[in-house]
Amino acid sequence: MTELVTAQLDPPGTSARGRRSGLPGRRVTDWNPPPEGNGAGCRIVDLPRITDPRGNLTFIEGGAQIPFDVARVYYLYDVPGGESRGGHAHEQLQQLIIAAAGSFDVVVDDGTETVRFHLNRSYYGLYLPRLTWREIGNFSTGSVCLVLASRPYEESDYYRDYDDFLVARAAADGAAR
Ligand code: TYD
Repeated sequence: MTELVTAQLDPPGTSARGRRSGLPGRRVTDWNPPPEGNGAGCRIVDLPRITDPRGNLTFIEGGAQIPFDVARVYYLYDVPGGESRGGHAHEQLQQLIIAAAGSFDVVVDDGTETVRFHLNRSYYGLYLPRLTWREIGNFSTGSVCLVLASRPYEESDYYRDYDDFLVARAAADGAAR
């Protein structure tokens, strides 16, 4: 079992410390700034902000703020209280997850380490490399989870079984050594 770290970006005092993920046998701890990344290979991307009295603006360019070209955008919204999404990993897909509105938690797992990120700012993105198990929950009312993805939707790219994911991740880690 691995001690987990969670991203608590801000504001202080809203820490998710001590909550448990739905991942089997995983203990989750909070990860705190600075957002320089974590053992699960995920990292917070501090996106450009054009502040303006008329309203702020943030932009993302493939290959600049994120290490992939954007092939697809999707978003989760109208999530009922207490619901969670995700519960899968991808063989090839890379993603950037943004709390475009409201807040939610993203619990990521690389097969060894489990980390929870509490996203609550539109100018932070959470980068997820391939072979990362993720669960998204604790959605605030009216939140919007915006996802930029490196590939089109392909069901064959999914690992929906956690044990299958662990096998694939161990094989990939072994090959990389
Ligand atoms: P899925 O990625 O499985 O979301 P979750 O793990 O949160 O349930 O997607 C749910 C459904 O939506 C699934 O039937 C596939 C479909 N879907 C698309 O058709 N295109 C997409 O880009 C995405 C992300 C999902």
